[in-house]
Amino acid sequence: MNSERLLNPSANPDDDPQTEKSLRPRRLAEFIGQEKVVEQLRIAITAARRRNEPLDHTLFYGPPGLGKTSLAGVVANEMNVNMKITSGPAIERAGDLAAILTNLQKDDVLFIDEVHRLNRAVEEVLYPALEDFALDLIVGKGPGARNIRLKLPRFTAIGATTRLALMTSPLRDRFVSVHRLEFYSDAAMHEIVSRSARILGVPMTESGALEIGRRARGTPRIANRLLRRVRDYAQVVAEGEVTLEVAQAALAMLEIDELGMDENDRRLLRVIIELFNGGPVGLSTLAAALAEEVDAVEDVYEPFLLQLGFLQRTPRGRIATRRAYEHLGLPYSEQFAPDGDADAPQQGRLW
Ligand SMILES: Nc1ncnc2c1ncn2[C@@H]1O[C@H](COP(=O)(O)OP(=O)(O)O)[C@@H](O)[C@H]1O
Ligand SMILES: [Mg+2]
Repeated sequence: MNSERLLNPSANPDDDPQTEKSLRPRRLAEFIGQEKVVEQLRIAITAARRRNEPLDHTLFYGPPGLGKTSLAGVVANEMNVNMKITSGPAIERAGDLAAILTNLQKDDVLFIDEVHRLNRAVEEVLYPALEDFALDLIVGKGPGARNIRLKLPRFTAIGATTRLALMTSPLRDRFVSVHRLEFYSDAAMHEIVSRSARILGVPMTESGALEIGRRARGTPRIANRLLRRVRDYAQVVAEGEVTLEVAQAALAMLEIDELGMDENDRRLLRVIIELFNGGPVGLSTLAAALAEEVDAVEDVYEPFLLQLGFLQRTPRGRIATRRAYEHLGLPYSEQFAPDGDADAPQQGRLW
């Protein structure tokens, strides 16, 4: 069992696209949790429909697997319009974006995933498109070149990003409504697992669903993935039904601990503690020591560890907290205690 592939929400070659599709909520009423975002969207959608206008440009941000792409689809469904899907890295040249924009129909949703990865030249084309529904083109070359402005149909851009801070502010400012997705509560996760189990036809007890939900790092995509692995286990090792005991045994086999941390999470903490004496250690040094991409460390592993209070981000680097030591059963020495203020001189340091 490859738990890295299982739990790394950004790299999911083992996701079955058909299942993924069938599990996606299609309507706002089906979308579990994120109540604040859902309520704001409901009002914005109702208002736009009454005015018979497309929805304002909308941005979703937050860690991977929390429902950004799903929500974009939900918005398009609720607005009863078509959605065209692209992503920051897919649009290489200004001309690529121009082609996408000129193919839009009135009221369409244009979903731009990883919108923080658009390059400068492409962004320049996007600004007037978002602001004035216009496309500025230069026709001809040399002294005869002239600017022409093409009118675009009114459309709604929906952006998604795991890294709001990496978006340029002119781009960010052109999204009228900006929504942050949070990790889901245990209650919401319970509901999500139960819903997915129902759709997939997996027999499951309440306590089984609760256990999987509780150990999926507040992330629906991880819950769905765990559910599929636990279902396999239940079919082969148990009688097919996912009970509490079956869920616990399957999760233990997958090396997912009580808090939902997997081997990669524990390894990250252990590297900080054992190799770097608890930190602070710079992000790129940490990534190199883990043989991981900086982006994966920052987007995939860190958000949940920060949420658990196992990790601190300081100007001088990452620090493993006392809670991290305790969870791993490692001795914590006050001498090296991070004092929260990493700029202050730290006594007792060895370097
Ligand atoms: N609120 C939710 N209720 C039920 N399932 C959800 C919810 N949010 C996400 N999911 C499930 O999690 C998976 C990942 O969601 P996705 O929208 O792709 O996340 P993101 O785009 O933020 O990475 C989806 O396939 C969907 O099945
Ligand atoms: Mg997505």
